[in-house]
Amino acid sequence: MESSEFHHALALLDWQIELGATEALGDVPVNCYDLPARTEKPVAQAATPAVAATNAGVASAAAPSVDAVDAARTAAEAAGTLDDLRQAMAGFDHCPLKKGARNLVFSDGQAGAPVMIVGEAPGREEDREGRPFVGAAGQLLDRMFAAIGMGRTHEAAPVYITNVLPWRPPQNRDPSPEEIAMMKPFLERHIALAKPEVLVVMGNISAHALLGKRGITRLRGTWTEAHGLPVMPMCHPAYLLRNPAAKREAWADLLDIRARVSGA
Ligand code: URA
Repeated sequence: MESSEFHHALALLDWQIELGATEALGDVPVNCYDLPARTEKPVAQAATPAVAATNAGVASAAAPSVDAVDAARTAAEAAGTLDDLRQAMAGFDHCPLKKGARNLVFSDGQAGAPVMIVGEAPGREEDREGRPFVGAAGQLLDRMFAAIGMGRTHEAAPVYITNVLPWRPPQNRDPSPEEIAMMKPFLERHIALAKPEVLVVMGNISAHALLGKRGITRLRGTWTEAHGLPVMPMCHPAYLLRNPAAKREAWADLLDIRARVSGA
């Protein structure tokens, strides 16, 4: 199948699932009472690419990916620059999410910025554009950092943004532990090469990936440390959109970040 046909088929499947479809029906109605009493069991078919991508989390959960983690570590360690790292990730074929994604979402903002924000995974808009945080949550993220005089294009006080995963999980499901473990060597190398002064981990998935802890509403607002850097855990902007009352605490976290970094 051509890549454009694959993405078209996947987009149609995505759309139907978003509308609530849970079952695939044929074009012709079937009267179950007319079926022969005993039908042969269908021979298991290889999954179509779209279904394989949709089930990727389940598949990867079944097959431990120790070799893939090793392969990721080797590729990540060989990257001497952020460009090398982007290329290494683009050429990494072990993660099943890559097959269902349109684009690798590597980063945005300015490399070398004092603040590096680590989100969870691309959503639909990010997958389309190949940039992190460009949907509704991303717009809120931009407003939050603009409120403390920082931003991805801000010359004096820039931020740098990436995600735990560079490919969109189907239907925006949570990334599986296997996917996170497989891509973590790339994230760690990304942090080492970007050399921020502080890390901001947005949401539970990122906090768990980088700090090994869950419970972001409890963790948020308290500086901690990972990879030799100060880390501020914050509630994800998607959570803040659903829970506007939590914005007050997020504001306090932003002020703490601003006070901690150079140029404040
Ligand atoms: N949410 C994330 O965590 N990352 C994105 O890039 C977009 C939405």
